[in-house]
Amino acid sequence: MPITSSAQGAVDTALTAAIETVRRNITAFGSAYPDDTTRDGRYPLRPAFATFAEGENRGWTTSFWPGMQWLAWEVTGDEAFRAAATRHAADFAGRVRGGRDLETHDLGFLYSLASITTSRMAEQDRDRQDSEDAALLAADHLMRRLLEPAGIVQAWGDLSDPAQRGRTIIDSLMNMPLLSWAHARTGDERYADAVRRHTTQLRENMIREDDSTFHTFYWDAESGEALRGGTEQGAFDDSCWARGQAWGIYGFALNHRATGDDELLAASWRCAEYFLAHLPSDGVPYWDLVYTDGSDAPRDSSAAAIAACGFLELSRVDPNLDRAARAAAIARKLVDDLIANYVPDAGTADTLLLHSVYDLPKNVGVDEGTLWGDYFFLEALTRLAKPEWVTYW
Ligand code: GLY
Repeated sequence: MPITSSAQGAVDTALTAAIETVRRNITAFGSAYPDDTTRDGRYPLRPAFATFAEGENRGWTTSFWPGMQWLAWEVTGDEAFRAAATRHAADFAGRVRGGRDLETHDLGFLYSLASITTSRMAEQDRDRQDSEDAALLAADHLMRRLLEPAGIVQAWGDLSDPAQRGRTIIDSLMNMPLLSWAHARTGDERYADAVRRHTTQLRENMIREDDSTFHTFYWDAESGEALRGGTEQGAFDDSCWARGQAWGIYGFALNHRATGDDELLAASWRCAEYFLAHLPSDGVPYWDLVYTDGSDAPRDSSAAAIAACGFLELSRVDPNLDRAARAAAIARKLVDDLIANYVPDAGTADTLLLHSVYDLPKNVGVDEGTLWGDYFFLEALTRLAKPEWVTYW
């Protein structure tokens, strides 16, 4: 992939526009949560479901919304963003205390962004403490999903659900920072041990010989034996779902930072090289890397945004200076390509990033904006504008 760099001005302009969209969305959504993806370019409120009213805090993506507000506060210093994020954090504390929609490994995505951030950056001591307590409760809840003897954290569903038992997914790498944070906070080695074992299992079983990844993988929950890979959101069991590969780049890099395990750094680079080798000419992947230039398959811009953050993390953690510099240049190119063709014209949309895919096989959120695509695009822009930015992961 040719590496080029645009003027810093393009990043600053995109960052300013993105933050203005976040500001408008705070007014539009109030204390409610937008849905996972836009519909025809606009976010509806999260639909009512079971005992949850419209706009209530459920599912795995709600924390990307306060995560964006924290980024906006850090970039601008505008207290309106901090106040909004702190209000949402109180709601996340209520969710974990009330046992509301917690049967998922995505507690890491949820509580890293909504609560650990707030425990660090809220104005009032009581809000910081409340969020720290909530994040620890969430970490303990996540620990209940650690299956012995396999040493993997089950991804989805009730632990007694036979269809989900013993299954994890590549995305789960991003949930481990909640446990690493809990280890740092408490000194309790059980959290760190879970991170080491889960990430080792993923490294050994979910990366194929050609450095592509499975989306999901099953272990025998009783014997701990590694069984088989497959997909849920990718094109085929043996293809490479673009967002999964991006989760691999970023997730292995983050877990290398937390554990010091050099094999996780190597795993991140393996995912990275495969991702780069399967990008089309405009630098933004199709939703599955089986598709290449000339395909009419939809793109997944969120995968490019996640990968950009992954490369920026690699540029920080890789001790090899040449590799670190290359990672920084690749990240910059990915962000430049997103800015060039995937951001909406000012004021025309309430998403920050156009043309992502949530779940094409189920026809959900195809060619739409997504909360995570918006969050990781804003994180990448923030990292480029503020190299001293302290990670939320
Ligand atoms: N973590 C779920 C997804 O990436 O769609």
